[in-house]
Amino acid sequence: MFKNLKHEILETNTGWLVVATMFAISIGGLVEISPLFFIKDTLEDVPGVRPYTPLESRGRDIYLREGCYTCHSQMVRPFRDEQLRYGHYSLAAESKYDHPFQWGSKRTGPDLARVGGKYSNEWHVQHLLRPKSVVPESVMPNYPWLLTTPLDVSDVGARMRALRTTGVPYSANQEEYRRNVEKFGEQVARTLHIPDAQKNLVAQAQDGNYDGDRSSVSEMDALVAYLQVLGTMVDFSKIKPEDLVKYR
Ligand code: HEC
Repeated sequence: MFKNLKHEILETNTGWLVVATMFAISIGGLVEISPLFFIKDTLEDVPGVRPYTPLESRGRDIYLREGCYTCHSQMVRPFRDEQLRYGHYSLAAESKYDHPFQWGSKRTGPDLARVGGKYSNEWHVQHLLRPKSVVPESVMPNYPWLLTTPLDVSDVGARMRALRTTGVPYSANQEEYRRNVEKFGEQVARTLHIPDAQKNLVAQAQDGNYDGDRSSVSEMDALVAYLQVLGTMVDFSKIKPEDLVKYR
């Protein structure tokens, strides 16, 4: 088919060369871009991944406010040394409800993507009050005010509504709630219901007793609740190797 193609025409004629180049590039562009108009989500659903509860979400806000991301990344890279140290490499779906995601690249301290469940709540409280009290060589700053500052819960519903506009499936009405029950099960769906946000937040803080004081909800409660859920949503013992090809 190409035997009779006079390549010389393209090589000696800039106008035709530009036209032919654009044509070749546009095929590549169409193949990559046009599917994006027809698929709703570029991520595979991975069982277990859910949006943060109101308390965890407020903890994440404090994580951002205090600039923890300036020293900590939240992505385990798929390298042997990282997996030996931190656990299974991070899946894209594990940060699908993070807006903005906290992958980062600055590691003055360790990666925190899988820190959930690694330490007790008490350890976290001690560590955040004064890191040197549990890790003598630590250069992490003290955050003593977290324990004494009551968590502002007044705007948690508004914050969830804002996240909802970015695509996080917090439910604002019964129809959305029912959709969440189907997707996440009733127990999780209840924690994602915006009208009950404040009630759910206080209940989780009291049940979890993250800062060791059940009588009030401190910023420490929220931050520790957030740290304890990081990297724990996916149960990797239940995931088959062939699924990982799909999940990335
Ligand atoms: C100036 C850099 C710096 C900042 C800012 C910082 N950290 Fe750290 N962090 C470290 C270093 C260094 C370590 C390792 C030594 C240690 O455990 O204290 C660490 C360790 C940790 C650990 C233990 C991780 C593990 O796997 O052992 C947690 C949890 C943690 N930091 C949470 C936080 C949170 C939450 C914030 C924000 C409130 C924060 N860090 C802010 C430097 C920092």
